Amino acid sequence: MALPATIREYRSQGVSHHDFIIQNVTLSKPRTNEVTIKIHAVSLQYRDLAVSKARYPGQKEKPVPCSDGAGEIVAVGKDVKGWKIGDRVSPNFALDHIHGDVTEAIKNTGLGGQIDGVLREYINVPAHSLVRIPDYLTYEEASTLPCAALTAYNALHGPVPLKGGDYVLVLGTGGVSIFGAQIALASGATVIITSSSDAKLEVAKKLGVQHLINYNTNPNWEDEVLKITQGRGVDHIIEVGGIDTIQKSMKAVRYAGQVHIIGYVSGGDSGIPIRPAIHKAITFRAILIGSVTQFEDMNRLFITRQVHPVVDKVFPFEEAIEGYSYLESQKHVGKVVIKVTKN
Ligand SMILES: NC(=O)c1ccc[n+]([C@@H]2O[C@H](COP(=O)([O-])OP(=O)(O)OC[C@H]3O[C@@H](n4cnc5c(N)ncnc54)[C@H](OP(=O)(O)O)[C@@H]3O)[C@@H](O)[C@H]2O)c1
Repeated sequence: MALPATIREYRSQGVSHHDFIIQNVTLSKPRTNEVTIKIHAVSLQYRDLAVSKARYPGQKEKPVPCSDGAGEIVAVGKDVKGWKIGDRVSPNFALDHIHGDVTEAIKNTGLGGQIDGVLREYINVPAHSLVRIPDYLTYEEASTLPCAALTAYNALHGPVPLKGGDYVLVLGTGGVSIFGAQIALASGATVIITSSSDAKLEVAKKLGVQHLINYNTNPNWEDEVLKITQGRGVDHIIEVGGIDTIQKSMKAVRYAGQVHIIGYVSGGDSGIPIRPAIHKAITFRAILIGSVTQFEDMNRLFITRQVHPVVDKVFPFEEAIEGYSYLESQKHVGKVVIKVTKN
């Protein structure tokens, strides 16, 4: 396939997604250790909204947005082994997070934040960052995996992996939480989900989630969780709420249970109360996405259980700004996707 001399890319202007520009830039050849990926689809994260406003810690100025993309290899650097033209791939969220613990140097390779991201037609990335897309997934589905799915997987299959029969609580129906529910169900857990909306809870029910709680009509949802678990509390919590939810999560978790500190959609730092945490022997584990190795492990689970990501809405490349606005409105369940190619 002949590669184009120039390609289109979005570039943030550091104010909001409404100010994004599309520009034509030269497509450089891959370095010897890199491949060129033709991006077919990109998915949006809560983080992308923060980056668009220049509010993400450590981000570069005016980056090409977005961390999560899926596409096909169209050129291969001369030292690359194990990958060929036509392979369907995603780059990992942090390009250099191959395995093991995150470090500052690894964090600084985060696509669409610390370095330029994937909201463009082609990208060159090092071969060590690549993960093969499962055959049964479309590019739109596969584009949702690098951040939201891997974060939920890292939580639930980290150092204290969930066991079949565990209770898992996920907060809200956004990207990370819906993947948390799907991974937990695929691993034999019972799932409790909270949401602002009964209509969104119905989507979770169709996925097989057993217990649904509307936190607007039932603001003391932690009591409901305790009732469901006969007073014991849940084994794992996907904690994306932050300040408005952390104390309720601490009531809902079982003694010596796992609270995975992932996000703060209700705003600000949560100020975890130390004494109640100690007296319940709660483990808090903050998560920063995941590695290539964990991504490959997750894909094996997805393939075995044929997990299909929940794609709420797909926007064409030219309407990425509308896609961001839709994400910001929080009307979605699961993931919002940008289709970069026409077919
Ligand atoms: N640490 C990491 O590695 C990592 C990775 C990915 C994401 N994150 C963070 O995780 C959070 C979620 O990200 P995402 O991409 O899944 O977001 P998202 O798709 O935009 O989902 C946000 C959802 O959160 C729910 N929500 C809003 N306010 C809430 C509240 N007060 N209590 C409970 N739920 C509430 C809403 O669902 P309902 O209407 O159903 O309630 C909303 O749709 C963000 O803070 C993000 O930065 C962290």
